[in-house]
Amino acid sequence: MLPEDIQGDLTTVLVTEEQIQERLAELAAQIDADYAGKDVLLVGVLKGAVMVMADLARALSIPLEMDWMAVSSYGASTKSSGVVRILKDLDAALAGRHVLIVEDIIDSGVTLSWLRENLITRGPASVEICALLRKPDAAKVEVDVKYVGFEIPNDFVVGYGLDFAEKYRNLRSVGILAPHVYE
Ligand code: IMP
Ligand code: MG
Repeated sequence: MLPEDIQGDLTTVLVTEEQIQERLAELAAQIDADYAGKDVLLVGVLKGAVMVMADLARALSIPLEMDWMAVSSYGASTKSSGVVRILKDLDAALAGRHVLIVEDIIDSGVTLSWLRENLITRGPASVEICALLRKPDAAKVEVDVKYVGFEIPNDFVVGYGLDFAEKYRNLRSVGILAPHVYE
């Protein structure tokens, strides 16, 4: 799906399909170098990271495995406590493995800081994070993210895996959702 297919639903296209692919190729080159000779497990966070995972994994030259987790925040009232619920856990054991979490976006940082701590308790050799997007102005928790695609303003965005009410995930670019869509 292209921005012109949803005329009026976006105020701005923030990151184009071409920019995403270019940036993923750069990140993949770094990851290839950093993980050469290591046993790498990419952990994708469902559902938003599906597109990043698919394109990043194919841009990488190193051998790797992929696994998936689904998590959900308990809600606004518990957000500051960082309580996250696992809806689907990993199939793989992490002991001794180099884990790279693949995420679509870091907003408050609550989900990823919780997830990283959770995975560390499972005894991996390392845990790093790769996120396509980060909203620095929305950070409530500082998360050490090794690989970031783009820093974006604190607006609600959709596309390339990111949804509003489960829609727009198949948009090829990332854009700011027009307020009339959710108001
Ligand atoms: P955090 O715990 O606040 O960092 O939230 C991260 C999760 O919230 C992401 O993995 C997304 O699923 C969702 N999210 C945050 N910001 C946006 C957005 O602008 N559009 C769509 N989903 C978002
Ligand atoms: Mg997500």
